[in-house]
Amino acid sequence: MIVTDPQVAIAALAAGNLCAIPTETVYGLGADASNLGAVAQVFEAKGRPINHPLIVHVASLTEARKWISELPAWAEELAKQCWPGPLTLVGPRTTLATNNITGGQDTVAVRVPNHSLTLTVLEQLAAKGVHGVVAPSANKFGHVSPTTAQHVADDLGTYLDVHDGIILDGGASNVGVESTIVLATGEAPVVLRPGGITRKMITEITGLPVSETIENAPRVSGALSSHYSPSARVHLVEQSVLASVTTGGLIAFREVATPEGLTRLSEPRSVDDFAATLYASLRKADELGLSDIYVVEPTDEGLAEAIRDRLSRAAF
Ligand code: TXA
Ligand code: MG
Repeated sequence: MIVTDPQVAIAALAAGNLCAIPTETVYGLGADASNLGAVAQVFEAKGRPINHPLIVHVASLTEARKWISELPAWAEELAKQCWPGPLTLVGPRTTLATNNITGGQDTVAVRVPNHSLTLTVLEQLAAKGVHGVVAPSANKFGHVSPTTAQHVADDLGTYLDVHDGIILDGGASNVGVESTIVLATGEAPVVLRPGGITRKMITEITGLPVSETIENAPRVSGALSSHYSPSARVHLVEQSVLASVTTGGLIAFREVATPEGLTRLSEPRSVDDFAATLYASLRKADELGLSDIYVVEPTDEGLAEAIRDRLSRAAF
């Protein structure tokens, strides 16, 4: 069932039921983070391996401190400047963050999403003593993340209907790719997954260099080689290659003309637009029954890095 009233979402989550929630990045499959049964349903609904840790969504930095025991000064500054927004901080966990959320790791991932309906839900739940909502992207494991309530219904509607779960419709997600995940346990930021908060922004805010990978990096399921995948095969190509392609779907900036025979899936005007429409266009290819998708990727830095990261996994 798709609803638009945040009070219905609050009641569902407080009762231990699942509720998909809108965020600025993608829709999340929400559950009370302190309710073992509800969290178990999240894994079951998605078909997600149980050792893959979840992000806890909270209303504010003050609430985040209930889950993360300690943040270096640079990470606190990042939180102050980027929250609510597409940033997830991974820090040492408090006792609230149980093994079923962290995948048994001693760190926990937390973020404050920037969506007015969902902030209302998180604030009012906190006032009732529910201090966090776990919310992995609300898609079947390995599939393309959802950026509309309908995408969630397409992937998880049957499970939700059978288990008294609901979907809170807050319109299309405006960033369109998942949050930047930053490991905040050391002296400088480490980006575990690129996203809406770019490396440049992180350096500007913290004054520190940003590294990308470390040995023994904590597990990130979005970091699997294959992820974010539609059924159609995704081909990452140079514009010049399109001349020899005769059938399939095309995702490319507006300036790129659509060759005869190809179906245009999206024609973004900017990198922001590319990110915001990407997942919907991948899903559209499957709806149209296309077997191949050709993508001319953005080459810039910033958000384009997150787009290329997701596309490389979609294409694997
Ligand atoms: O934008 C987003 O982050 C969206 C929206 C719904 O908030 N959520 C999202 O969740 O992308 P999910 O579960 O699809 O991806 C969460 C990622 C996973 O790759 C997981 O491995 C990583 O966060 N993660 C969670 N806890 C972690 C931890 N303690 N250490 C390292 N990575 C962690
Ligand atoms: Mg995901």
